[in-house]
Amino acid sequence: MAFRFLDLPAARDDMRADALAGLAAQPKFIPPKYFYDAPGCRLFEAICKQPEYAVTRTEQALMASRLPEIAAAIGAVDCILEPGAGDCSKVRVLLDALHPGQLIVLDIAGSALAPAAESLAHDYPRLDVTAIGMDFIHELDAASPHIAPGRRLIYYPGSSIGNFSPAEAVAVLARFRQLAGEAGQLLIGFDLKKDPQLLHQAYNDAAGITAAFNLNLLQRLNRELGANFDPARFRHYAFYNPQAGRIEMHLVSLVEQTVTISDQSFHFDAGESLHTENSCKYRCDEFGGIANSAGWKLKGEWAQDGFAVQLYG
Ligand code: AVI
Repeated sequence: MAFRFLDLPAARDDMRADALAGLAAQPKFIPPKYFYDAPGCRLFEAICKQPEYAVTRTEQALMASRLPEIAAAIGAVDCILEPGAGDCSKVRVLLDALHPGQLIVLDIAGSALAPAAESLAHDYPRLDVTAIGMDFIHELDAASPHIAPGRRLIYYPGSSIGNFSPAEAVAVLARFRQLAGEAGQLLIGFDLKKDPQLLHQAYNDAAGITAAFNLNLLQRLNRELGANFDPARFRHYAFYNPQAGRIEMHLVSLVEQTVTISDQSFHFDAGESLHTENSCKYRCDEFGGIANSAGWKLKGEWAQDGFAVQLYG
């Protein structure tokens, strides 16, 4: 078994600086990458099992039913690189179909990534596995020295690209293009535009798991930055904005209140929002425009039950 874990910690100071800047901004926001501490990762895994949240289930079903076609379209690859790999469960179908020699998994939540990648390395003893705990958006170049020469496939499933604005998505995909190299490919999964009521329900599950996931962000700021948010004084509020084509998640202050972090105070009016996440939904052709702007050319497309997977080269 070949396994190594490298931690390039997204410094705690980054979170402090980002939180202070976002809370001082108007309107207030916190980048969604800070959802994923250990409790946040567990809550996200629970979201994926909720009956209302179809993204994960639908993508799994699509990958299982169309795998032979998808694998044939991809052809031979030497290395699969998965940014935002989380529990490393999604890439297994591709490993089984493509048999690459190397797998590189990246995630900002390094402490959750490492055991998941190690257990994957156990299950695939002939695979060389490198797990890197890093903020792959800002530090992506740091992954380059660890990639052996050869044909690279970047796998970016789960509609994670939807958590960037369309302009940011172009920038992210352009960086993937650079990392993949001339002969490289990108296999990407994203959630499609659909009945807004279904989208609304997906981010407002009856069990309240998405609400807990959203509110955990405040608890994380309390735990790690010594903030004094009272989560009971904020309401999870998520809705589909059809003009912008995105789910917006907010934490709305239920009362007028002041919160402190690092001796800095932030005033919330009653009803004021802290914007925590966007989740953009696309049509296939719309997303194709974004990928083209980033230098990718469409090679294959599979869509099923409101979810799409596209292959680019
Ligand atoms: C990780 N990401 C694609 C999820 C989404 O659907 O935007 C995160 C999430 N937020 C609330 N529910 C799920």
